[in-house]
Amino acid sequence: MSENSRSSIHGQWSSRWVFVLAATGSAVGLGNIWKFPYIVGENGGGAFVLVYLLCIAAIGLPVMIAEVMLGRRGRQSPINTMKVLSKEEGRSPLWQLLGWSGVVAGFLILSYYSVIAGWAINYVLEMASGSFSGTSAGQVKTVFDDLLADPLKLTLWHTLFIIATMVVVARGVRGGLEKAVMLLMPALFVLLIILLIYAMNSGAFMQGLAFLFTPDFSALTGKGVLIAMGHAFFTLSLGMGAIMVYGSYMRSEDSIARTSIMIVIADTVVALIAGMAIFPIVFANGLEPGAGPGLVFQTLPLAFGQMTGGLFFGTLFFILLLFAAWSSSISLIEPAVTWLVENRNMTRRMASIVCGIATWVLGMGTVLSFNLWAEVKLFDMTFFELLDFLTANIMLPLGGLFIALFVGWAMSRESKLHEMGTKHLLAFNGWNFLLKYVAPLAVLVVFLQSIGLLEKLIEKLS
Ligand code: PFF
Repeated sequence: MSENSRSSIHGQWSSRWVFVLAATGSAVGLGNIWKFPYIVGENGGGAFVLVYLLCIAAIGLPVMIAEVMLGRRGRQSPINTMKVLSKEEGRSPLWQLLGWSGVVAGFLILSYYSVIAGWAINYVLEMASGSFSGTSAGQVKTVFDDLLADPLKLTLWHTLFIIATMVVVARGVRGGLEKAVMLLMPALFVLLIILLIYAMNSGAFMQGLAFLFTPDFSALTGKGVLIAMGHAFFTLSLGMGAIMVYGSYMRSEDSIARTSIMIVIADTVVALIAGMAIFPIVFANGLEPGAGPGLVFQTLPLAFGQMTGGLFFGTLFFILLLFAAWSSSISLIEPAVTWLVENRNMTRRMASIVCGIATWVLGMGTVLSFNLWAEVKLFDMTFFELLDFLTANIMLPLGGLFIALFVGWAMSRESKLHEMGTKHLLAFNGWNFLLKYVAPLAVLVVFLQSIGLLEKLIEKLS
């Protein structure tokens, strides 16, 4: 069967823009606004940002194009897409494992993503009730610490967020979210700009910029490089089939490369603006850039608390952050849901319920890791830290590595050209080169280097 006659049983986006919006909705989320600033803070700033940007350009973009292309060619759940395409290319059925590891990664990520999104729900209410008007840094920190110490509250918000995610997933790709995202993403962007303007006037703007953009390589560790690369995958939703499954609903006539470039740019700009807004606030208030996962929850309320109209803007900001998380969370579970529909003969609704319950249960581990289980550690990491490390820094880069290898080496040039079009041969060859050599080698080098093996290897060779 040729890819032109193939169509997805799950539906199709109504236009090219809807694909761009949905994929941007998946990419832009907690990763950009919650995670990016705090990992930049923990890893010393500029040098980390530089490595992250390099990874986005040299690995993220080519892998994104490859992943969308696989999805559109296969037009099924990632597991079945890999099954069909590996057969079509005369390759081992083991490539299906790529789809499986994505499904597992999606579950693991959503389980903790939902708990953090739950924090945002809590902050919408705190903001709206005026808890932060004119508060001090100390008081803001107390609100955050109290929230983490309260497993019941965390469970309540986690439950609500999982339900919200599953309701949208149950209704299918075209049922409502398309329209919500169209309105909310631009609104989030406008609010970030408002925050940025506030930060410009905070008195420490230049200090914030210098922290973000002056590379100090002595501040960057081997593990930091791994985290920067892992985050490039995480923030672009790559390496686990989320973008693949969205690609499977893409219309055959739309350009994969052009749309991917737009998504990557939008995602990167949002992360950089978030960083430029947050660090000046951090420095102006004498806060710690390495404060960890609580960073945005301890800086932004402070800023909104001092701003005119802060009650309104602050509430709106956390509502929009919540929506950004929501449009990402549905893509985390879509690969599993489509597989259950295809292979277990379930309705979309049933599949969503099953996935929702499973992720909810797992998410309780993250809820407890902030309080009752805070001392329970494996490899010196709490349950939440372990899940985050395993998924973002190991599973997604590995997934991305295998996507690059499959498209770069296992797929025939004809198949690729057929899907990508033959108009821009030079760009095609450049992309193919990045996938064949640069992306796989870069991932390998970063892996080796983070466990200290690269140095030993170089020593041996020289
Ligand atoms: N890209 C999302 C974010 O930055 O918040 C997180 C994410 C969504 C990761 C979907 C992976 C994924 F498949």
